[in-house]
Amino acid sequence: MASLTPLGATTTLAHPAMATTTATTETGPAQAGTVAVDVRGGAHVEVRSLTKTFPHGGRLIEVLRGLDFELRPGEMASVVGASGVGKSTLLQVLGTLDAPTEGSISFDGVDVTSMTPARVAEFRNREIGFVFQFHHLLPEFTALENAMMPGLILRLPRRDAAARAEVMLARLGLAQRLSHRPGELSGGEQQRVALARALLLRPRLLLADEPTGNLDTKTGRDMHELFFELNRELGMTILIVTHNDELATRTPRRLRMADGLIVEQE
Ligand SMILES: Nc1ncnc2c1ncn2[C@@H]1O[C@H](COP(=O)(O)OP(=O)(O)O)[C@@H](O)[C@H]1O
Ligand SMILES: [Mg+2]
Repeated sequence: MASLTPLGATTTLAHPAMATTTATTETGPAQAGTVAVDVRGGAHVEVRSLTKTFPHGGRLIEVLRGLDFELRPGEMASVVGASGVGKSTLLQVLGTLDAPTEGSISFDGVDVTSMTPARVAEFRNREIGFVFQFHHLLPEFTALENAMMPGLILRLPRRDAAARAEVMLARLGLAQRLSHRPGELSGGEQQRVALARALLLRPRLLLADEPTGNLDTKTGRDMHELFFELNRELGMTILIVTHNDELATRTPRRLRMADGLIVEQE
């Protein structure tokens, strides 16, 4: 991974299309036309008394049973625990993909659980990046097009979204793979495209659910390295569910879940 170009230095982010379009942003509508590749830093996330209950077979299953924790801006933490303890549910709820049953989640002091559905969708696209165990790339689109998606949803001009995606893919070592479709990429490359897509809009929170669970050891290790590098370069807050002990011991903080609760924070 040493050959990859760090994002922190502005020189590596210069792209002809970006340089020309950035100048137009002041007159454009909010967001549209913005291609500033700013380092936006990380969200301060506060979770209070969070519960999630699913109705199942005529009864209620309490999957999250009252979680309290905080992620400081730019912090990188892992979530560990046996299968079925609620790790994925926690990520879904934190990521606003699913509403909690009770409790609150705030980002930089703003309660996301009380936002309207339209507002929360916009907020999610802009502020939260997801990486899952399976890449969920669209098979009929190229790596570049897949990575552009959050920009198109935000209604960035197509060339701005493409420019951003190209920079991000190049940063992740995929400059030579822009026009490949997912089926023409290795598992590690597919996951890096998914990571590029997740990071396209420089989310302030990155949620990853066993992102290397499907990769071989070496490829997984390279991917872990990328998470650490990107955390340093972009400063986003990262919460990563993992069964990989090597990764978990390397993250500055670990949240251990058992039976729908966080039983240990270290
Ligand atoms: N939509 C759902 N409906 C009913 N039960 C669910 C639903 N989603 C998850 N669960 C249950 O919640 C528990 C925790 O699941 P999950 O969060 O996926 O655990 P983990 O990611 O730690 O393996 C499991 O028992 C699972 O069956
Ligand atoms: Mg899971």
